[in-house]
Amino acid sequence: EAFWKLPFTERGKAGEPLNLGDTLHVTNIEQIFGDYPSYDGAPLAAGDLAESGLTDGTMYLGLQRYQDKFGDVYKMCFGPKSFMVVSDPQVLKHILCDSVFNYDKGLLGEVLEDVMGKGLIPADFETWKVRRRAIVPGFHKAWLNYQLGQFGEAGRLLTKSLHKSAAAGTAVDMEERFGSVALDIIGKAVFNYEFGSTEKESPVVKAAIQSLREVEHRAQTPFQYWKLPLMDDVLVERQREFKVNMELLNGALNDCVQQALSQRTEADLEELHDLERRDYSKMDNPSLLRFLVDMKGEETSGKQLRDDMITMLIAGHETTASALTWALFELAQQPELLEEVQSEIDGVMEGKECPDMEDIKAMPLLRLCFAESLRMYPEPPLLIRRAMEEDTLPGGATGQETKILRGMDFFLSIYNMQRDEKYWPNANTYDPKRWLNPYKNPDIPGWKGYDPTKWGGQLYPNEIASDYAFIPFGCGPRKCVGDNFAMLEGTVTLGMVLRDFTFEFTAPTAEPAQVGTSTGATIHTKNGMWMKLKPRR
Ligand code: HEM
Repeated sequence: EAFWKLPFTERGKAGEPLNLGDTLHVTNIEQIFGDYPSYDGAPLAAGDLAESGLTDGTMYLGLQRYQDKFGDVYKMCFGPKSFMVVSDPQVLKHILCDSVFNYDKGLLGEVLEDVMGKGLIPADFETWKVRRRAIVPGFHKAWLNYQLGQFGEAGRLLTKSLHKSAAAGTAVDMEERFGSVALDIIGKAVFNYEFGSTEKESPVVKAAIQSLREVEHRAQTPFQYWKLPLMDDVLVERQREFKVNMELLNGALNDCVQQALSQRTEADLEELHDLERRDYSKMDNPSLLRFLVDMKGEETSGKQLRDDMITMLIAGHETTASALTWALFELAQQPELLEEVQSEIDGVMEGKECPDMEDIKAMPLLRLCFAESLRMYPEPPLLIRRAMEEDTLPGGATGQETKILRGMDFFLSIYNMQRDEKYWPNANTYDPKRWLNPYKNPDIPGWKGYDPTKWGGQLYPNEIASDYAFIPFGCGPRKCVGDNFAMLEGTVTLGMVLRDFTFEFTAPTAEPAQVGTSTGATIHTKNGMWMKLKPRR
């Protein structure tokens, strides 16, 4: 509003583009703004579209190149839109924790609406408050312990399929394999659905994967063409396909919801008083969905439950799969480190099919291998927010405050921050042991540094120990609800695969560099991660 009230010639002072035509090429930003200082005080990124990475699916890398030139809080324009890009831990803490209710999901909410409805990720604050309170208790200790056994079972099927390929001498795309196992795990855990994708193909699996691709496509398309009349299914082939896939997936989800609703019993409600004593191995439907249905309190509609389920399916599938892919990608290039982790695993898991909680506790290096993958390859690399009211961002590392107008859109670059040498020496080196040593940077007085004694009784490093420089699960009230689930799942799966095999990159991606990266919601490879596996035992 403030911007549109300014006389035309003054608008540059507000730090906004003068008109659409001038800004279609980001190259001309300096000409457009002339010598006017911008309203917000943030440096303006000037570059071109190719450099920004928008055109080849590597926007997170483009934003990192700009960070080198413009710092940890800067503004950039894509056509008529401008975004503030932030990667300073103190500023991120302000947005995600201290002033969390001033920053909603903005663009992301609009893009995800068709798929996730009012699920937790895109939900407005009203809905979010109610659903978050319902969902978080579902991830209690007894349930997570039970899930640990399920991760082991899924890992067993995965290693079985990998042994078959190894015996036949066939190359395997490990990215695809990790995607399948993560899909099977999340489907069973969240809504008691057997995707069975580790062992076979099915139309529902295809529909689930293609719907995720569409979400990624939409998240990267600034103009919401699918909302225009006729665009949804008449003119655009991919939208037609998307509709068919969503119908198939919704059908499966709705069946699960109806099944859980029909299984609701009074006895279950009684048990909820003492959650930790619930014996999930004796339940025919030990899923999170069943828990949500059994909850006392207001009735939850079938539509809301479906939205909750699909949100968790999407949130918990490719994120874990990508973190596993990149952990293996890095370990396969460091034979000595790989051997060291394998000998840790051998020592603990000797004679056991899969690890239990005590085993996980006894394998610190394995746990750190997964955490370090999430530092170098955060999934998603960028979070999206929009300011609901005017605000002033704290100075952070530079001490330079930034004024924010209502409606400003943000990319919060977790990737930039977690690869920043200021916080992580040799940031581009995969070094799981870095987490064992404290680190402080005297050049950044406001940042307390990383302290390995501050994990707070958790099994993995976190935002508190790193003073918000490591936030792969976000932080504050909207932090990931599946963080412990995902860490345990990643550790079990990685442990079982590393225990059984050695790895060699092979055609068509024989060199690690050929694996390439591309992003949607997560960082994935360009060409798959093809490997030949040799059994160790
Ligand atoms: C939110 C990362 C696994 C469910 C988030 C956020 C991040 C994240 C960064 C915050 C998004 C934001 O603030 O905009 C990850 C990573 C995972 C993972 C890296 C795996 C390695 C999971 C799993 C589940 C899950 C397994 C469910 C079982 C959710 C949900 C939210 C969320 C429901 C929204 C929370 C809210 O807004 O209150 N996740 N996630 N995630 N995640 Fe995860």
